[in-house]
Amino acid sequence: MLRSEVNNILLEGDAFIRSLGFRLPPFAYYTPSEMRSKSDTDIFRNRLGWDITDYGAGRFDRMGLFLFTIRNGRAADLAKARGMLYAEKIMISRENQLSPMHRHDVKAEDIINRGGGDLILEIYESDESGMVDRTRPVSVPVDGELRKVKPGSYLCLKPGESVTLMPGIWHAFWAEKGDCLIGEVSTVNDDLTDNTFEEPIGRFASIDEDEAPVHLLVSDY
Ligand SMILES: [Fe+2]
Repeated sequence: MLRSEVNNILLEGDAFIRSLGFRLPPFAYYTPSEMRSKSDTDIFRNRLGWDITDYGAGRFDRMGLFLFTIRNGRAADLAKARGMLYAEKIMISRENQLSPMHRHDVKAEDIINRGGGDLILEIYESDESGMVDRTRPVSVPVDGELRKVKPGSYLCLKPGESVTLMPGIWHAFWAEKGDCLIGEVSTVNDDLTDNTFEEPIGRFASIDEDEAPVHLLVSDY
């Protein structure tokens, strides 16, 4: 992606978040030089902040996601079973913009429609080899009540609704009837190791520096 494209997406995303009454923490607005001076903080260590991806495919409008990691613990603490074992993100899926089919080995996540359009999820169980099982229905908690989703049908979350996705549940999602603000409340998050995609794609964009960054992305530090 061009840095100018990333800058625009970042500013448009911030405006959309504000339009729905949500606010990002102060570190969202550090200048690049301010952010570079924070290398000894949890912002760097736990990879908090802006994360805009086209999954390496170069068509952000078709396949991509705006993310901002608000809080995150340390995956190493999971073995100790104590510490900051949770994470929170705010995301924007644009109308008909796909976040492609993937699963996590460690992270359980609640995906929450925080406002805007509808959030549509395609979800499947894993088969014995861990791949997508498109033959069996899957039951997932939707706001605490199990909902059965038949293979090939979609789960629609209206504003305020959420789904709990346990490790191993394959999921892809996109917005309909407008862009959607999405919350994610999860187990401590490691995006470098805990995303398995069905198709061979990347998690992070590669950036061509055609102008200066407005704010640094997590992948910049
Ligand atoms: Fe996920």
